[in-house]
Amino acid sequence: MKYSEIRNRLIQKESQWIEEGAAYVTHYLQSRDNGASKYYEDEALKYIDSLVQEPEFNYEIPFKYDVPFPPPENSKFKFIDLFAGIGGFRISFQELNGKCVFSSEWNKYAKKTYDANFGEVPFGDITQIDEKKIPDHDILIGGFPCQPFSIAGVSKKNSLGKKHGFLDETQGTLFFDICRIIKEKKPKAFLLENVKNLKSHDKGNTFKVIEKTLKKLGYFVFSKVLDAKYYVPQHRERIFIVGFSMEYFNESVVFNFPKPPKSELQIKTILEKKVDKKYTLSDKLWEYLQNYAKKHREKGNGFGFGLVDKNGISRTLSARYYKDGSEILIPQGKDENPRRLTPEECKKLMGYPDKFKIKNIGVSDTQLYKQFGNSVAVPVVREVANAMLYFMNNDQNKKEKVILMNKNNEEILKEKNEIKISV
Ligand SMILES: C[S@@+](CC[C@H](N)C(=O)[O-])C[C@H]1O[C@@H](n2cnc3c(N)ncnc32)[C@H](O)[C@@H]1O
Repeated sequence: MKYSEIRNRLIQKESQWIEEGAAYVTHYLQSRDNGASKYYEDEALKYIDSLVQEPEFNYEIPFKYDVPFPPPENSKFKFIDLFAGIGGFRISFQELNGKCVFSSEWNKYAKKTYDANFGEVPFGDITQIDEKKIPDHDILIGGFPCQPFSIAGVSKKNSLGKKHGFLDETQGTLFFDICRIIKEKKPKAFLLENVKNLKSHDKGNTFKVIEKTLKKLGYFVFSKVLDAKYYVPQHRERIFIVGFSMEYFNESVVFNFPKPPKSELQIKTILEKKVDKKYTLSDKLWEYLQNYAKKHREKGNGFGFGLVDKNGISRTLSARYYKDGSEILIPQGKDENPRRLTPEECKKLMGYPDKFKIKNIGVSDTQLYKQFGNSVAVPVVREVANAMLYFMNNDQNKKEKVILMNKNNEEILKEKNEIKISV
């Protein structure tokens, strides 16, 4: 039996993508051989019972993961993937033999792309998930939504008279959902990611609150803005915030973010040779974009479309690319209007491996553009993940062996890093 057959039985109606049943079963199946399965078993079996019409549907029998990124066979650590999107973080941490034991993403289409690639349907709204029901893990990962903090998000929200940052009561407080999970589960490390503007938002106060809160939870915090342009032909600056638990690591430690390689990338290397005409801008849209740019130029504003130089790099791919593609337009023949990137090209521009599946998975071009625009540049994450694992495995960074005696004078702590002190 193949995983896709199991999934097709679990999900027969579109609405089942956003109910939690399939999330329980797929999480249960992924963790059958590690301690995390107990968190999912009861609900998974209940869901299966509610579905099974044919007695031969036996989830206990071995099956094969026919997805591009199956769980690693010999995992070395556990992580959780919050605000998982389409799994840009998961790819890199799985490559390093990490086992994902929990994922959460509320968008139905992102769930579909995620499942098609990893064989797991993420749970939904993180604000509704009890942190006690999340399995133990070594690393927590969360590229939390950037809308309340990004410049575009802020100006849009200002113009709509909405609150932004932490005052945005729905999206802004998601950071505190991450904190409540960290507080309960105490992972050894975490990796958070957001737009560069997070650092300057509200004159730097937002970032100060973030750093202070994370430190108070017992973590050494390091952060850096990294530009994906050294790894993919796209200017994309994002802030990466890394934390290491004070329980496990020495005070004197310094985490070194990866140093970018010297490289001059060219967008032409990721462009397809033959592209469907549907990606070419209509006369009407092209004229509109040119007039719009002209108007702004006259006012002294820099806003406008971005016609790329094929020998250079592109602007940042955003989640609104599906609207008109204006930030990254590809010039064509002399008498042809420029075109937008295809979803397959967006995939390459974000550094996703070729085997990442986006065709025939029931997700439209519009949704794929949104998904890649919201995502992370995979090669950047790969470097950060490597640096984190290197750091965490380096004995010099770890706390010295501490041996404590309990009331009966027995040693209660034998191994380095087993610091669960309760005397
Ligand atoms: C910036 S994107 C992260 C994308 C991800 N890093 C990737 O590699 O694709 C934030 C994601 O959080 C999801 N999201 C927003 N609010 C959520 C919530 N309350 N619960 C679960 N997911 C949420 C969005 O649908 C979006 O996919």
